[in-house]
Parts: sequence; structure tokens; C-alpha cells
Amino acid sequence: MQSIEDVRTNLLDLITASLTPREVLRSVELKSLYSQLTELAPELRSEFGKAVNALKVELESAIDARELSLDNDDVEPLDVTAPWDVNTGPIELLPTEQGTQHPLTKELEVVIDIFTRMGFDAIESRQIDDDFHMFGSLNFPENHPARDGYDTFHTQESFIAPAHTSTMQNRILKSGKDKLEAGGQIAAISYGRVFRNEDVDTTHEHTFHQVEGVFVSEKATLGDMLGVLRAFFESYYGQTLKIKTQPGYFPFVEPGLEFMIEKPAALGGNPLSSGGEWLEMLGCGMIHPNVLRAADIDPEKYQGFAWGGGVERLVMLKYSIEDLRYFESGKLAFLRKFV
Ligand code: DAH
Repeated sequence: MQSIEDVRTNLLDLITASLTPREVLRSVELKSLYSQLTELAPELRSEFGKAVNALKVELESAIDARELSLDNDDVEPLDVTAPWDVNTGPIELLPTEQGTQHPLTKELEVVIDIFTRMGFDAIESRQIDDDFHMFGSLNFPENHPARDGYDTFHTQESFIAPAHTSTMQNRILKSGKDKLEAGGQIAAISYGRVFRNEDVDTTHEHTFHQVEGVFVSEKATLGDMLGVLRAFFESYYGQTLKIKTQPGYFPFVEPGLEFMIEKPAALGGNPLSSGGEWLEMLGCGMIHPNVLRAADIDPEKYQGFAWGGGVERLVMLKYSIEDLRYFESGKLAFLRKFV
């Protein structure tokens, strides 16, 4: 139980610091003095009561004085046209150590690291593009129904929010042409955000990420491509994997393939079950001659392979994430699992 003197010192301090000093009269400390009074033996009550009343009078006059000084405080003129620090001093920033890298950023770094160690350059894809890079340069004929499969967002000015990272193929090919003709090869990946006008559910998002790969030389083969892809997936999941392909149609490759891995036991698969569980990881194939021509590369002399697939799908398998929508959700409970 606090003595009258303790309460007095505390409350007077509060009054001098407060912008609303009158609230002190409703403080618990003061109330507790009144309740002590009712518990005292009758002969002690009168003296204690007087002391409490005297304290209240003292507090009231301190409050009056504080209120008067608050009213009279010199108000600093505020220059609303000045930069913030002139008026207020530096603003307080949230502590940065509480932020973390997004899981996709972290995993993309792993992906980029694997491919750059294999000798691929890595460039980020664009987030706004045009019809030529989205379709024309990739051997999609005008008005071809294959264009509809990409549920592409267009702006009123006919720009495109890219629906795949294949938009970067023509740029990669053009910028690698000199090196190719000097006896080298083109080897690059492009990674970034892509957009589709799709209904959102556990495996579909309007915004997601892809990684595209392009390799061109005088003698690149489909076998080389399967070797590169196998090496990538085995490195990313840290174990040997069974792979297979099946035919797939993409206008920019011939032949076109879907590349699959068997879901390994370590990642929740059951390879002993009849035939295992095959997961389609990406699309790939030998680059169509028209795609090389669109970059002014001679398809009689050079050949190449390309592939492209979703990053979220890779990461979901690695960490057993069941809902694609978590990545864009900003849910802290999800993000903190990757700290
Ligand atoms: N761009 C395709 C898609 O998003 C994926 C793809 C398929 C990329 C085959 C390629 C490829 O480079 O060769 O559906």
C-alpha cells in the first residue's frame, strides 16, 4: 500500500509531464487512498482524511498551474512548405531487423546460384512488355488460338503484363548473337514476376514467378537440355531424382515437351506405389527456327533449347506448402516460417 507521501510525489510528477493533467484526479493511486480511509480504525480516520483532502487541494492547484502553462506554451510556428526534418527532427523508423526476405526471394537466389554455377547469365524479366515479345517473336501467329491460353492482361495502350518469362527470349538471343558468331554460346536464364487473368485458387494466382532458360550453340541437343534440367532439379532438392518427359505444345519449341520429376519420398512422395507420382515441373523443347530467325540467328547453323516454369511450384514441393495464395498474401504467420 502506498503512503500519502509516495502518492503525492508520483502524482505531482505526472501532472508536470502530462498534456491532460486533470486526469490525475481520477487516478487509481488517489482512489486507493480513499479506500484506505474506509478501512482505518475510526480514531485514525479524521487525521488521514484531512491529509488526503489537503493532497487533493494541492494536486488541483498544481493542475491549474500546469493547464495555464500548457495554454501559454510558445507554439513553434510550423512551416508546412519545409522538408519534414526542419519541423520535427528525424522521423522514427521501424526497426529494420524485424524485416525478413520473402521466401520467394530467398529461393530465387538459390535457383539463380545453381544456374550461374552452371555458366548461365541471369537477368530479371520485365513486368511490362509488348505483343512482339509476348507472342510475335515466339512464333505465335496473329489471331492464333494459342494466344488465348495465356489469359494475358493488356493496358488500353496495348502494352502487356507478361504472362510468361519467355518474353525475354528474343532479347537474350539478340544480345548473345555476337558472342555466338564469335564461336561462343548463348546461355542465360531470366526470372521474374508474371501475370495471368485467371481465377485464383490453391494452385492458381494472378501474379506468380517463372524462370526461363535459353541455350544456343552450334550443336546443342535435347540430351544436353535434359542433362541441364536434371542437374538443376537434383541440386535444388538435394537428391537424385527420376525424370521423364511427355509431348507438350508450345509454338516456340519443336519438339515441345513437358518435363516431369517423380515425387521423391523425402518430399512426401510414395515411389513404391504403382508407377509413382509424377509432377509436371516445366515446359521445354528445342527452340523453333522462327524464334531464332526473329533474333536474326541462322537456324541452319545454330540450334538451341529453352525451358520455362513456375517458381512457386518448385518452392511448394520443397517445403510442402499446400496453398499457392500464401506467397502473395503477406500473411506474417506464413512468412515467419522462413525466417
Ligand atoms: N512459357 C511457357 C508457359 O508459361 C513455358 C515454356 C514452355 C517455356 C516451353 C519455354 C518452353 O521456354 O520451351 O507456359
